[in-house]
Amino acid sequence: QELSAAELERSFIAIKPDGVQRGLIAEIIARFERKGYKLVAIKLVHPTKDFAEKHYDDLKGRPFFNGLTDFLSSGPVVAMVWEGQGVIKYGRKLIGATAPLASEPGTIRGDLAIAVGRNIIHGSDGPETAKDEIALWFKPEELLSYKKETDKWLY
Ligand code: PPS
Repeated sequence: QELSAAELERSFIAIKPDGVQRGLIAEIIARFERKGYKLVAIKLVHPTKDFAEKHYDDLKGRPFFNGLTDFLSSGPVVAMVWEGQGVIKYGRKLIGATAPLASEPGTIRGDLAIAVGRNIIHGSDGPETAKDEIALWFKPEELLSYKKETDKWLY
């Protein structure tokens, strides 16, 4: 059957350089995968400082902007697009609060991180941001649409 618009909701999720260096790629991907979300794009990228500034464009002027963009451009990042009902909002829930010491156990940051400047993962914070971030990090042909046998057990 056709997928509904809600099932096709997509979020940009990135494992930041600290997550890659700490060997947390599989652990993080597993949490989105087990929830039932579908991976529709993935690549390993080392962003330039300029690219990191584009990604965090709306934070220009914040005191941590320079440190944050230095950090994002300090090594390889796993850039991904995940798809499924409620993935933008629920993805943020899986990730946990921005400051790892304020995020609940059971969340990615709550379980795996300590400092806000090293919070291992980024997720789009709304539909507009998701659209912009996906367009910044991926070419349209890098996004795949496909059926999974499990779709009918999830929806
Ligand atoms: S805010 O203050 O409400 O804008 O914060 P938030 O929207 O949650 O965070 C925006 C991104 O900035 C990062 N951030 C920080 N980095 C380093 N130091 C400090 N103090 C800091 N505060 C916020 C935060 O992790 C968000 O990045 P992403 O990649 O989206 O998680």
